Amino acid sequence: MSKDTLLIFDTTLRDGEQSPGAAMTREEKLRIARQLERMRVDIIEAGFPAASSGDFESVKTIAEAIKESTVCGLARANEKDVRRAGEAITPARSGRIHTFIATSPIHMEKKLRMTPDQVVEAAVKAVKWALEYTDDVEFSAEDAVRSEFDFLCRVFDAVIQAGAKTINVPDTVGYSIPVQWGERMRALIEQVPNSDKVIWSTHCHNDLGMASANSLAAVLNGARQVECTINGLGERAGNAALEEIVMAVRTRKDLFSVETRIDATQIVPASRLVSQITGYVVQPNKAVVGANAFAHESGIHQDGVLKHRETYEIMRAEDVGWNANKISLGKLSGRNAFKTKLAELGIVLASEETLNTAFARFKELADKKREIFDEDLHAIVSDEMGPPEVEHYKMVASKFHSETGESPRAELTLSLGGVEQRAQASGSGPVDAAFRAIESVAGSGSDLLLYSVNAITTGTDAQGEVTVRLSKDGRIVNGQGADTDIIVASAKAYLNALNKLHAGPERVNPQL
Ligand code: KIV
Ligand code: ZN
Repeated sequence: MSKDTLLIFDTTLRDGEQSPGAAMTREEKLRIARQLERMRVDIIEAGFPAASSGDFESVKTIAEAIKESTVCGLARANEKDVRRAGEAITPARSGRIHTFIATSPIHMEKKLRMTPDQVVEAAVKAVKWALEYTDDVEFSAEDAVRSEFDFLCRVFDAVIQAGAKTINVPDTVGYSIPVQWGERMRALIEQVPNSDKVIWSTHCHNDLGMASANSLAAVLNGARQVECTINGLGERAGNAALEEIVMAVRTRKDLFSVETRIDATQIVPASRLVSQITGYVVQPNKAVVGANAFAHESGIHQDGVLKHRETYEIMRAEDVGWNANKISLGKLSGRNAFKTKLAELGIVLASEETLNTAFARFKELADKKREIFDEDLHAIVSDEMGPPEVEHYKMVASKFHSETGESPRAELTLSLGGVEQRAQASGSGPVDAAFRAIESVAGSGSDLLLYSVNAITTGTDAQGEVTVRLSKDGRIVNGQGADTDIIVASAKAYLNALNKLHAGPERVNPQL
């Protein structure tokens, strides 16, 4: 018997981007979108076009570039948002508008200050405006989990009559538990008129750690689209993790009467890319994509796996793309091989000049490191691809001194808006000294919220990838830097975060 298709709607670039400090540049979003397309994601929610002109341009750029996935733009249920989303997705081969409004009593009364009748009217109007741009319109009832069932049925009936093709039921606050969420999905499908004319979708947050379980319960009860993100990135505790949904459905074929179109071997590369770009490190024990997900520590387990893998493994590491990061290039590789490899990774550099700079960085790295992996190339490109207007702070040269019994010192030459300045400071360690030196000339007055170092690949010659999270006046940004010298990587990450604070596009959160 052929199985139904379960559509995978990835919202890493929209809900994922709502994680504190995870804001991405247009180029970074495009790189992730290309990886999602390579993974055969059905729908890519590319952003919230009304949030800012930067968000609008990002969605439009992705709509122009992506051919194999549907590109979706989010819009609140008002005319301005919907038209903005419509304009942004117009270039897409297949474009969707996702419009939403809150339907729970608490959201309607306290946040929207609208009556239920006004909410229904706004939802219907939004769907109709959206249909002027595309016939692929999705409607979400925000906070459906705390909405009254009969009112939800009324809103869904109205938007289906207005022409919505996908009905999304979000657990916006991560409040549900699987048995309840499954029942809600089943009851909606049974009671909403014309429910068989639309695709039912679920969108679950992870506040109680049940986002994936709730989504799967909805699938068992009729949902045929799951909204999820790579690594479970997303607002607060995040969203359902794409890798968990896809692998649960695939591994438990005995239970699920659905299959996805996802190429699972692209999961780990996607996870690494998203982690590298956002600075959100994946916890080692994270399902499917964590570094320990396939590591067997206890002797009994190791013995079992060596005798027969399936004694302790329900999935194969290679099926989700572990070990797929083959050695990309080496010291003798030329510019053409470098360019071809970048193209294979979906990376298109903006100009010949950027390509030359990235190639010079690659050669420098190849001198220090025997084997260059895909992740190394992504790190180089992340460092080099930032648009010049956000490169206010740059490192020109650095010298670090660390000796037993002496205070570590950093001497830096920095460029601030094109003007070179020297900075020096001592600190409790060389990284502390480097940050103090930078602050002595930048004077940002920001607070350091997080400093983390991660090895991009294995071996002591690996590049260290550093994330620095800074906060200033309520804004939070993550900066990244990569280098075989972790002090240099740290200084780069700090400067990258300062550049993001400096560029500071103000954006609206869709839930506001
Ligand atoms: O969590 C939520 O309700 C959302 C909607 C915009 C779908 O992200
Ligand atoms: Zn959400």
